[in-house]
Amino acid sequence: MTTASTQTAPSVTTDPLALIDVDHVRFYVGNAKQAAYFYAHTFGFNISQVADLTTGSRDEADYLLTQGNIRLLLTSPLNDTHPAAEEIKLYGDGVKDVAFTVEDARAAYERAVANGAEPAQEPREIRDDRGTVTVASIKTYGRVIHTFVSRTGHYALENIKRGDAEFMPVFKKIDSPVNAYNTANPAGLMFVDHLVGNVEEGKMNYWVDWYENVLEFKMFKHFDDADISTEYSALMSKVMASGNNLIKMPINEPAEGKKKSQIQEYLEWHSMTPGVQHLALRTDDELASVAALRARGVDFLSLPDTYYEAVWDRVNKTLTDHGHEAVKEDHERIKDLGILVDADDEGYLLQLFTKPLQDRPTLFFEIISRRGSQSFGKGNFKALFEALELEQERRGNL
Ligand code: FE2
Repeated sequence: MTTASTQTAPSVTTDPLALIDVDHVRFYVGNAKQAAYFYAHTFGFNISQVADLTTGSRDEADYLLTQGNIRLLLTSPLNDTHPAAEEIKLYGDGVKDVAFTVEDARAAYERAVANGAEPAQEPREIRDDRGTVTVASIKTYGRVIHTFVSRTGHYALENIKRGDAEFMPVFKKIDSPVNAYNTANPAGLMFVDHLVGNVEEGKMNYWVDWYENVLEFKMFKHFDDADISTEYSALMSKVMASGNNLIKMPINEPAEGKKKSQIQEYLEWHSMTPGVQHLALRTDDELASVAALRARGVDFLSLPDTYYEAVWDRVNKTLTDHGHEAVKEDHERIKDLGILVDADDEGYLLQLFTKPLQDRPTLFFEIISRRGSQSFGKGNFKALFEALELEQERRGNL
């Protein structure tokens, strides 16, 4: 046995599961060409790149949509043997893959599998003379996978962010006319703030443990943890975060409440299979983003005017109690735009949820702006419920 020596101190090893970024979020969709136009025109994404028959992709068509640091990859199968064909039959359009950029995809995959992950795809190198993209995937809840992506040379993420590089070999850059429109009329979406999964009743803690053990995430602590009112929200939720807090993944399960759980409704329209419920996209200017998205035709959840009869007292009291300034955005404009507000000990947030993005009541987006608050707007569950109840009362139906 050797004795410890200052000269042979172990070298610092890089954590293989250190997540650098959300590399992309892949949707399986029935018609990627048309879906690309929907997300480009309604949400302001640029249609940046494509891989299809014309670029040598024989089995699937992929459209890379970009806005800020958000990369959505829309994939449609080109034949009935592609796995996406069966999944679209079962689930409709939705999220298949939340992919993470890492230093070394093979090392990340091996570590995750050693931690208990079920493999979805062994490490694979996609290369040409300009660089290499290595991908390897593990299964998470339901139909969703996490792909680890590492990039070298031309295909480095920084080059892609600048618009200088192809996403990977077989992709080609395109310039849709909508991109110029988006540049002149930005929607202001900057990055993925959080990604929420719906799992079956009684399975939330299983997946909390899974993210702790497999991806080495931690429970994300915040003010309103103890404040979840399942009576109003009909859901239970815990938030898991990567070590650097860069990636936040709340996990919901249905719960008994005053009305049918929205989580249960999701599962029923998703072949009773867990999946991604919503992507929250961050903006610095909630009012400008929501105004722009409304003008583009985005369908947002509407809430009764009664919500605004109570919101300022609730939110501004919480802020004052914790020594923060009141909400600085114009209160009347917030109401006109139908934006939701919530506060905690660290500050406040502005948020608004879209209606489902496809005919099934499954995936939707949230547009969120943070002013200090790091939580997820749980105060709005009770406030929304009470606002609706007040309207019911006024109609004499309570
Ligand atoms: Fe959210």
